[in-house]
Amino acid sequence: MTERKRIIVGVAGGIAAYKAATLVRQLTEAGHTVRVVPTESALRFIGAATFEALSGNPVHTGVWDDVHEVPHVRIGQEADLVVVAPATADLLARAVSGRADDLLTATLLTARCPVLFAPAMHTEMWFHPATVDNVATLRRRGAVVLEPASGRLTGADSGAGRLPEAEEISTLANLLLERGDALPYDLAGVRVLVTAGGTREPIDPVRFIGNRSSGKQGYAMARVMAQRGAEVTLIAGNTAGLIDPAGVDVVHIGSAAQLSDAVAKHAPDAHVLVMAAAVADFRPTEVQTNKIKKSADPDAAAPVIELTRTDDVLAGAVRARTDGQLPNMRAIVGFAAETGDANGDVLFHARAKLKRKGCDLLVVNAVGENRAFEVDNNDGWLLAADGAESALEHGSKTLMASRIVDAIGAILQSGGG
Ligand code: CTP
Repeated sequence: MTERKRIIVGVAGGIAAYKAATLVRQLTEAGHTVRVVPTESALRFIGAATFEALSGNPVHTGVWDDVHEVPHVRIGQEADLVVVAPATADLLARAVSGRADDLLTATLLTARCPVLFAPAMHTEMWFHPATVDNVATLRRRGAVVLEPASGRLTGADSGAGRLPEAEEISTLANLLLERGDALPYDLAGVRVLVTAGGTREPIDPVRFIGNRSSGKQGYAMARVMAQRGAEVTLIAGNTAGLIDPAGVDVVHIGSAAQLSDAVAKHAPDAHVLVMAAAVADFRPTEVQTNKIKKSADPDAAAPVIELTRTDDVLAGAVRARTDGQLPNMRAIVGFAAETGDANGDVLFHARAKLKRKGCDLLVVNAVGENRAFEVDNNDGWLLAADGAESALEHGSKTLMASRIVDAIGAILQSGGG
C-alpha cells in the first residue's frame, strides 16, 4: 500500500459524473483519505450519499454550506492532490478565470498541490477554440489536463471527449503522488511508436509459443507519453487484459513477424521508438495447418518442433536509422530483462546488450522470482549510449515510465539520436 495521502476528488456536472464513484472507491482502496467536492450540477447526476458512503467523508458543494465547520480554504490548502473527474468545459473555463463561486473552484484556487483534470464533454466542446485555449492555459500553469479517450459519448455520438477509465485516472493520480510534482506537457508534436506485450508464435491452430510479458511497462510508457502531449501509436502483443491508454492509437498484433511488419510500417513517421515488447527470438519453422494429435501409443516419440530465428526488430531499426531510412528518428529505446550468470551480473550483460543493439537508451530490469514480469512495481537501471548510467527508483511501472520519458525528453531537447 502507498503512503496515505489527502486527495480531493472534484466532480463537475456531466453524465460521466457517475464514473467518479469508481474513482473514489479505487483511491480509498489504495489507502488514501478522499474528500469529494462536487458541483451543484454534478449532484443532478449522482447523489451526495453515494460519495459520502464511498469516501467516508461529508460532501458539500457551496462555500456557504456549514460555514462553521467546512473550512473552504483549508480543504485546498491541505490537499496532497486534487483530481477533477469529470472536468466539464464549464468547469475548465471557471478554473481558468479563477472563479471561486462554489466549493470546488474555491478549492482549486487555494490548492498548492498537483492538480489533475480529467475532461469529459462532447467532441465539439473539446475541440472548440475556447476549450482548447483553456486547456493550454491550465497546462501552462502547471496543471495536468488528461487527454480524453475516444469512443461512445452520450446517446449516439462518438469521438474524442470520453472520460478515461477510472483505473487510468487513478493510475495517473498515483503517479503524481509518487513523483510529488506535475507531469510536464513537453512532448507536443512528438510522434512515438511503442511496442508492448509478448508475441505469440503459432505452432498449430490451437497452440503457440508465448512468454510472460504482461505489457504493463509498455502500456505505461504509451500512457505517460500521450499525457505529456506526444502522438502515440502502440503496437500491442498479448497483454494481461490491459485497458487501452486514452488518446493512443492501438494496433494489435500476434506474432513477432506481425510486430516487425507493424514497426516497419509506422517507424518512418516516428521520432521515438520504444521497444518494450517481449519479442520471441525463435518461432516454429513450420506452422501446422491442422492440430497436432498425440499418438494412441504412449511410448511413441513426441513431436519435435524445429525453430527458426526471428528478426531482431530493435537492431533492425537501429540499422535502418544508420542507413538513413528513418530520417525522423531521434531516440531508440530498448528494454533488457536480465539475470546474472557465471559470466557477470545484470549490469555486465546489460552494458554488452546496449553495445550490441546500438540503441540510445536501454532500460534494464533484473528478472527472477516475482520481479519485472506480471507485477505492478519494479525498479532497474537506465543505460545511455554515451555511457551515462542511472538507477530507476523502486515504484509503479508508471513511475518508471515517467522517469524513462524524462530521459527521452532530455535526448530530444539536446537534438540527439
Ligand atoms: N527485441 C527485438 N526483437 C527480437 C528480440 C528482442 O526487437 N527478436 C528487443 C526487445 O523488444 C527489447 C530488446 O530487444 O527491447 C532486448 O530484448 P531481450 O530479449 O532482452 O534481448 P535479446 O536480444 O533477445 O537477447 P537475449 O535474449 O540473448 O538476452
